[in-house]
Amino acid sequence: MNELNDLDIILQDALKLVTSVTSINELDLTKTSTLGKSGKINALMQNLKNISNNDKKTYGAKINHLKTTIENAFLSRREELSSYALTKKITEETIDVTLDGNHNKLGSLHPVSITLNRMLNIFGQMGFDIADGPEIETDYYNFKALNIPDNHPARAMQDTFYTENNNVLRTHTSPIQIRYTENKTPPIKVIAPGRVYRVDMDATHSPMFHQLEGLWIDKNISFANLKGVIVEFLRKFFNKEDLQIRFRASFFPFTEPSAEVDILSNDNKWLEVLGCGMVHPEVLKNMNIDVNEYNGFAFGMGIDRFTMLRYDIQDLRLMFENDIDFLNQFSGKNEVDI
Ligand code: FA5
Ligand code: MG
Repeated sequence: MNELNDLDIILQDALKLVTSVTSINELDLTKTSTLGKSGKINALMQNLKNISNNDKKTYGAKINHLKTTIENAFLSRREELSSYALTKKITEETIDVTLDGNHNKLGSLHPVSITLNRMLNIFGQMGFDIADGPEIETDYYNFKALNIPDNHPARAMQDTFYTENNNVLRTHTSPIQIRYTENKTPPIKVIAPGRVYRVDMDATHSPMFHQLEGLWIDKNISFANLKGVIVEFLRKFFNKEDLQIRFRASFFPFTEPSAEVDILSNDNKWLEVLGCGMVHPEVLKNMNIDVNEYNGFAFGMGIDRFTMLRYDIQDLRLMFENDIDFLNQFSGKNEVDI
């Protein structure tokens, strides 16, 4: 019977087709066209009625067998393809831990922060506590309590930014001297870093800059103690035992006597780095400190100026422009770098 040979060919073709399919989608389409209503197998079934009764049984059984074989082939190909797809997915999603990643750029400390940390370290070793105060100050703390009365010419020494209610952006960190001591009894040994503001702008002056205030009040404190602390600090800060230091007589309303301190730079120039002096008795009174029992000294230094000196920066304004190339030069540096 010819038809039986045809069936073999149909089976072989169908099985070939199933194996050639490479995706589940394609498999579904092929299945419909092979086993569906308009498919070849269905046509064979339809053809049964034309077969002689004699052959019908064998032929029918053969078609059924063929149909099941093809269906099974589809089933196992489907399993094959889905496990293949899974393996592929797993392989593709594997993370290669040896690949170089997308690095996040690490930031670095700002040079002023590095300098401040170094200062805190050195004064910390000398036993100073750390205090803080508000940047918007009252006239009393910024001026009056520091022996700078209304209309006193010393107010013109620092061009002031005024805010509302006669408050000011503090022009120096000295108001913290008063705030910190008002409710304390000596010994008092404290430093206070922070931002300060003045109407001032050129290569060595900035409208916002940083100061670090120092105050030591106890019995029998003398100018020699002040000198000792400042000289030790400066030599440690610049890591130079033979640093040349000059105390130059000066004036501040809140200290008496007062001095400004200069250091000799590498190119042989004297540079002012801080102001200091013995705390004025009027100021001690405003601190609620008994002037018959205690005295002390205070100092105030420009942190930005120290940063310029340490890193040989010529223009103070660079410090506040946030230029990445400038800032990157400090990456990896820290306060203990020499
Ligand atoms: C004062 O501000 C005093 N309060 C310091 C002081 C404290 C004296 C305690 C005595 C006792 P002066 O205005 O000189 O002083 O400023 C102190 C330091 O701040 C200066 O030596 C300088 O290093 C820095 N400085 C002053 N003005 C600026 C500015 N515009 N930009 C950057 N740094 C400045
Ligand atoms: Mg000065």
